[in-house]
Amino acid sequence: MPTAFITGATAGIGAAFARRLASDGFDLVLLARDGKRLAGIADELGTTYRIGVEVLPADLSTDEGISAAEQRVAQGVDLLVNNAGFGHQGVFLDVPVEDEITMLRVHCEAVLRLTSAALPGMIERGRGGVINVASVAAFLARGTYSASKIWVVGFSQSVMQDLARRPEARNVYVMAVCPGWVRTEFHERAHMDVSNIPDRLWLSPDRVVDEALRDLRRGVQVSVPGLPYKAVAALTRLVPRSLSGRLSSRVGRSYT
Ligand SMILES: NC(=O)c1ccc[n+]([C@@H]2O[C@H](COP(=O)([O-])OP(=O)(O)OC[C@H]3O[C@@H](n4cnc5c(N)ncnc54)[C@H](OP(=O)(O)O)[C@@H]3O)[C@@H](O)[C@H]2O)c1
Repeated sequence: MPTAFITGATAGIGAAFARRLASDGFDLVLLARDGKRLAGIADELGTTYRIGVEVLPADLSTDEGISAAEQRVAQGVDLLVNNAGFGHQGVFLDVPVEDEITMLRVHCEAVLRLTSAALPGMIERGRGGVINVASVAAFLARGTYSASKIWVVGFSQSVMQDLARRPEARNVYVMAVCPGWVRTEFHERAHMDVSNIPDRLWLSPDRVVDEALRDLRRGVQVSVPGLPYKAVAALTRLVPRSLSGRLSSRVGRSYT
């Protein structure tokens, strides 16, 4: 059975990846900080889908947490989903610099190190995939969150270009996923008031996962789920980042 390693697997998009990949017959390694919640999900998925589920309680904002994850990933996984992430309460200079650094560790350092740990085994086996969950914020300029997701997209594309030059990596794919608003715990955890976001703009985590897995099979490098967000991605290529950032600040979320 193939094995998928998913970070941030206890809630939202990560939990949806776990359910979908379990139903597709993957064995799972699930990572998040909350060990009790991880154990509950592992029990449920293991019993329902008769798959093997390992749990790895770890904090990806710490060196120990990233190292533990790296070690497990380097033992061999067929699909790596770098999904763990969070939003901030406020804009740059309102956010303590140590919280910004924590975000860069989870969104960038962990993604970099886990991708590096996963790829050699995938190349050796001649197949594998890495899905890095970025955001539609990667097409805008809004604080460290958006900057970190811009990095995730650029990193994923550049690794994919490097792989394309290696014949032995022909069936190894790296893809960034850029969701817009998704109904998860993300906004509540960040104390964001999202009451002004129209219903039609919300995606379900299952929809994001369906489109991401379909796009990975097609060799897409940047997956943007949902038509409205495909349009945002296309439009932002036509206007300067400074303008799209200003517009998104007007129509975006506020903090409670
Ligand atoms: N929801 C949206 O509208 C949206 C839009 C675009 C992109 N995204 C991106 O999608 C990804 C998933 O977000 P979500 O919306 O599913 O959020 P969520 O419902 O809040 O889930 C976040 C997951 O990440 C884990 N996590 C958070 N910090 C962690 C850390 N330091 N170490 C290890 N695990 C950690 C959480 O578990 P523990 O708390 O137990 O660690 C949880 O399992 C993020 O990268 C986010 O930036 C979300």
